[in-house]
Amino acid sequence: MGADLTATETARKRYDRIAPLYDMMEGFAEVLNHGKWRRLQWSKVEGTDILEVGVGTGKNFPWYPADARVSAIDFSKRMLERARAKSDKDKVKVRLRQMDVQNLEFGDDSFDTVVASFVFCSVPDPVLGLHEIRRVCRPGGKVILLEHVLSSNRVLARLMNLANPLAVRMMGANINRRTADNVARSGLTIQKVTDLGAGIFKLIEARKTATPS
Ligand SMILES: C[S@@+](CC[C@H](N)C(=O)[O-])C[C@H]1O[C@@H](n2cnc3c(N)ncnc32)[C@H](O)[C@@H]1O
Repeated sequence: MGADLTATETARKRYDRIAPLYDMMEGFAEVLNHGKWRRLQWSKVEGTDILEVGVGTGKNFPWYPADARVSAIDFSKRMLERARAKSDKDKVKVRLRQMDVQNLEFGDDSFDTVVASFVFCSVPDPVLGLHEIRRVCRPGGKVILLEHVLSSNRVLARLMNLANPLAVRMMGANINRRTADNVARSGLTIQKVTDLGAGIFKLIEARKTATPS
């Protein structure tokens, strides 16, 4: 089954609206934690053909490996415009394209590593998106996600579920996703889930193995 087009269009428009404010909204978190988590994530990249999904305004550009061929996609035109301006200014080698992760226009087995940071909280059908990532990843290739997820603490999880509709409206992000479960459901094989903070921020490392998990 394909993506829910109405939900996808609503989410895309939300990011188009947020784009001018995104770097400012995330500024404090970036200095506090996100910067060091991004560095950790990109230190785990393997191979030379890399896909970044949900590139946003290009916050991961500083961590791209120097010798890599990076393609980066986002479904939001306005976020991509910002990424393009940043890549022109900083002379970042990247092929930027507007694309929905739920319907990737790349061939099977195209990339050594697929990376996404803070993306699967907002993809309307995360399992479909992860399934597409699995398809374009080479056999044995790596998938590395930096995500915030639903807390394993029951009280906190309850509050997060209650606050979720507001979070989606304001930031376009679901705060109650079980992304590691979604990764496993997509057929990728989880290798490691590292808790980066508060039981909410996770680095998820997975592989495309011969037999889906
Ligand atoms: C919270 S922002 C994160 C941006 C960037 N990865 C970062 O770490 O700053 C989420 C990004 O994912 C993109 N996104 C969400 N759903 C998507 C989809 N279905 N296909 C492609 N991009 C998507 C949004 O447009 C947005 O740029």
